[in-house]
Amino acid sequence: MKILGIETSCDETSCAIVKDGRILMSNVIASQIDIHRATGGVVPEVAAREHVVKIVPVLNESLKIAGINLSEIDAVAVTYGPGLLSSLLIGVNAAMTLAKVLKKPLIPVHHIEGHIYANWILQSAKEIDVPKFPALVLTVSGGHNELILWEEHGRYKFLGATLDDAAGEAFDKVARLLSLQYPGGPSIQRAALKGDPNKYKLPRAWVTKWDFSFSGLKTAMLRLVQEHLPKIKSKKLKEQFIADAAASFQEAVCEVLAIKTINAAKKYKAKEIHLAGGVSANSRLRELVRSLINEQFPHNKPTLRYCTDLKLCTDNAAMIATAGYFKYKKSPSKYKKWKSITSDPNLKILQW
Ligand code: KG4
Ligand code: ZN
Repeated sequence: MKILGIETSCDETSCAIVKDGRILMSNVIASQIDIHRATGGVVPEVAAREHVVKIVPVLNESLKIAGINLSEIDAVAVTYGPGLLSSLLIGVNAAMTLAKVLKKPLIPVHHIEGHIYANWILQSAKEIDVPKFPALVLTVSGGHNELILWEEHGRYKFLGATLDDAAGEAFDKVARLLSLQYPGGPSIQRAALKGDPNKYKLPRAWVTKWDFSFSGLKTAMLRLVQEHLPKIKSKKLKEQFIADAAASFQEAVCEVLAIKTINAAKKYKAKEIHLAGGVSANSRLRELVRSLINEQFPHNKPTLRYCTDLKLCTDNAAMIATAGYFKYKKSPSKYKKWKSITSDPNLKILQW
């Protein structure tokens, strides 16, 4: 079964074709990063206008790479929330039109469920194993930061979430403080390579057992930067300070994320640990979780999964097609008759 996935919830226009939920035939992403760099973040109207320009060329490219034409698609899956309303509308309208014209099932997908399902996409020709439930999932993106016990397809137990900023948001804001480029995550990771993660003592917010908080850390970073601002206004922050501050900040975020994830996996006897969302591209986070698994699970180590293809960690349509496939498989009759989809910027994950 070939599913066309469409994703336009924020600043990437993406269309992908995924076969049987796991085989990636194409995953085309038109990124708006260069446009939003000038403003240091996403301006919703600018993003929406760009989606309008890109959606048809990106769709055509995804079909071309997959080597199929539109009539060979078996269903259309689309992100309908959460995200920027004006951006969501472009993808949802494109998907509704295609499904109606082609007379194919139309499957609405929650953006974060897409991120979670990205770990089902086969990453190499050798990989054949099927993820096992229950899995402990850490979702870390620009807008989401949750610990979820994934009991089976469509069944989630929400253990905790951020009480203020998501980890990705903290990376983006702190990068700005350090005069690093948007998006902040990759810039901080790069700067941190030359820095000392123990140089500055930064707070770790343990708050409740499974919840997160990054606002205190952000304030600590603001103070640190203010202390190191050169007296002469035209001068810039020192390169070594930026590297040490970036490394210390990255360590503080990743330590809390990794320790809580491991503790939850232990408590709920998870067979697997999945990292999902844009921040799961962070190599220090991956490394920390891996070393904690080795240290804390002498027997029956949970399998660690994250997307080695970094394009599958950040926003992309392949993950939407995959989530759509599993939703469709569970109750095909629900999606066969064409129904209008309402985009919802604050959509919650529903059980199915
Ligand atoms: O999942 P995503 O593409 O979009 C949302 O759904 O929000 O995540 C984007 C976030 C941004 O905040 C970006 O800075 C962060 O993911 N990110 C990273 C890395 N790559 C992307 N954060 C830390 N380290 C990275 N290597
Ligand atoms: Zn995302």
